[in-house]
Amino acid sequence: MKGQLNHPHLLGIQHLPLEDILLIFQTTDNFLKIQQGPIRKVPTLRDLTVVNLFFESSTRTRFSFELAERRLSADILNFSADSSSVSKGETLLDTVNNLIAMKVDMIVLRHPDPGAAIYLSNHIQANIINAGDGTHEHPTQALLDSFTLMRLWGSLQDKKIAIVGDIRHSRVALSDIFAFTKLGAQVQVCGPKTLIPPFMESLGVSVSYSLDNTLAWCDAVIMLRIQSERQEMAYYPSLREYTLQYSLTRERLEKQHKIIPILHPGPINRGVEITSELADSPQALILEQVENGVAVRMAVLYLLAGVPGAQ
Ligand code: CP
Repeated sequence: MKGQLNHPHLLGIQHLPLEDILLIFQTTDNFLKIQQGPIRKVPTLRDLTVVNLFFESSTRTRFSFELAERRLSADILNFSADSSSVSKGETLLDTVNNLIAMKVDMIVLRHPDPGAAIYLSNHIQANIINAGDGTHEHPTQALLDSFTLMRLWGSLQDKKIAIVGDIRHSRVALSDIFAFTKLGAQVQVCGPKTLIPPFMESLGVSVSYSLDNTLAWCDAVIMLRIQSERQEMAYYPSLREYTLQYSLTRERLEKQHKIIPILHPGPINRGVEITSELADSPQALILEQVENGVAVRMAVLYLLAGVPGAQ
């Protein structure tokens, strides 16, 4: 495997060149083959130390990064805000500077504040990977979503991809929009008016308030959960009303007379944005997304390790 990314950090998809996305996919293909073979571990990052700095809860992203790092033979430090000196008032920058003094090479950061990864990248000398910053971006999720659809279709050119649910609070929606449009797809966001920010059309996507119309339009659908933890007010009358209008059900899909692949970044709220039956159906690519996520993250770590961390 050969190649390097153009930038020492992965902070988002918005400014990631298309050639870097395609290089990540090529490299992911190779790591996926290794993951599916008998020996999953390679010595590639043997001399590097990676810290997983998680200031917000996570299951998929955290374990996926940790597995990716272990399978590349990196040394790993895992950090939880609750059990660190952050709970005694230490700043993010002081925390990270202490880790850098211990010769950490790469930082995987999940943080509730939009822009936290960009801020760190301006102040420290290490490769930073944004593992989700508030409502801003979640670049590795968008890469694994795009990679999953690329494997299904070969190309995203002219494909129609719908993103349904709480668009306003979703970093996945924003990163997916940047990734899918760079790869030539058309994107439509769908949800209640109150959960779709007014700037969406300026990103080159169409907006729909009808799930049935969106399903008639799309080739694949990404369902998002309602992010109650980020909602400071009520955006719809009740969860029951939201579910009646925006839940993906067998009855709704059957009206379309076509097979629509279903993606979901997780965590799923079964019975809210999607029925259990559909989440577990063969047309759901949800666990394939998770499987691809490890290989995508291996590719990102490997390609960034070739670029000296810079301020
Ligand atoms: N998709 C995703 O970011 O899931 P986690 O919050 O579990 O990491």
